[in-house]
Amino acid sequence: MKRYNLCLLGYGNVGRALVALLVKKSEAMRELYGIEWRITGVATRRMGWLASPEGFEAEALLSGEAASKALSPPPSNVSEWLRAARADVLFENTSLEPHTGEPAVSHVRAALESGAHAITANKGTVVHAYRELNELAREKGRRFMFESTVADCLPVFSLFREDFPAAELLSFSGLLNSTTGIILEEIERGGTFDEGVRRAQAMGVAETNPSYDVDGWDSTVKACAIANVLMNAQLKLEEVQRVGIRNLDAREVLEARAAGRPYKLVARAERTRDGRIKAVVRPEQLPLTDPLVGLDGSSLAVHFELDVLPGLTVIAHNPDVQSTAYGLLADFINAVR
Ligand SMILES: NC(=O)c1ccc[n+]([C@@H]2O[C@H](COP(=O)([O-])OP(=O)(O)OC[C@H]3O[C@@H](n4cnc5c(N)ncnc54)[C@H](OP(=O)(O)O)[C@@H]3O)[C@@H](O)[C@H]2O)c1
Repeated sequence: MKRYNLCLLGYGNVGRALVALLVKKSEAMRELYGIEWRITGVATRRMGWLASPEGFEAEALLSGEAASKALSPPPSNVSEWLRAARADVLFENTSLEPHTGEPAVSHVRAALESGAHAITANKGTVVHAYRELNELAREKGRRFMFESTVADCLPVFSLFREDFPAAELLSFSGLLNSTTGIILEEIERGGTFDEGVRRAQAMGVAETNPSYDVDGWDSTVKACAIANVLMNAQLKLEEVQRVGIRNLDAREVLEARAAGRPYKLVARAERTRDGRIKAVVRPEQLPLTDPLVGLDGSSLAVHFELDVLPGLTVIAHNPDVQSTAYGLLADFINAVR
């Protein structure tokens, strides 16, 4: 039996779902993998930097009672907080900042430097610093894990790592954003764009700033993450042709659905003959026979074309914030077992 000190940086929808899931899966983790855990640090800008090496009661964290344990004076940097909390693992779940990936990249770097594993649902870290962070993790004998960044707990990176070693990914297309799927579904049911945004927010799946969903940034960052990790590319956000769903007219959406070619916000990337990666995110009308159609609004899917297999589609039907938390929990188990 080994006990790990866990720290959570960012404690919103995903962080809270992770704490609840850790509690729910405690016994299974102990019995199946000999893993015990306690949460010794939690931090956000508003809560401050909480640290308690003997561990917080999960119930106190979920109810907000633990807030009185904020370090005073606050630590001068993340490393100091991680030391105070004696962190073995950092879960980085702060809000997405698509253009730089900060401060999440610095948080993950500090965790690895301090000898902790770093696990994140924040895709900014992968698109802006995958190579650096992966290399740092290797040097430190720790893991940088990020399965939840692209499609919640759907296996995307682990699928290639575990089941398709040495296979070449030629292209992919995907529905990578739940919020836009929910908005389009809401409009198809006769609702409004804003009602769709509100439904996604109530489900906890919208970005902190939902314009990152609506304008295609979230899908663009995810497309870059897949290309950079699985196609060994160095794709930058500005190289992706990006059109969101903001300017789609409700009438167009309804007509498209009635004509059997509904709109979806699709991300695509392929390796061109000259070895470059061409990527695009835009609303597309897809035929009902397309593997990406026929799913509920929040569902996520990625269709891969490999040199060894012409078509492979993975689908997450109606994932929710617990599914994201599960991707983080699975990364934790896989990092330490
Ligand atoms: N929700 C999902 O379904 C989902 C799915 C996959 C991936 N993700 C990713 O998971 C991450 C978290 O998403 P969420 O839904 O939990 O967001 P959220 O509910 O808005 O929570 C964000 C958390 O991060 C904290 N935070 C933001 N900036 C910070 C900073 N500079 N320093 C310290 N804390 C900071 C916020 O607290 P303060 O404002 O107090 O700082 C809050 O606790 C995002 O990167 C998102 O892209 C989310």
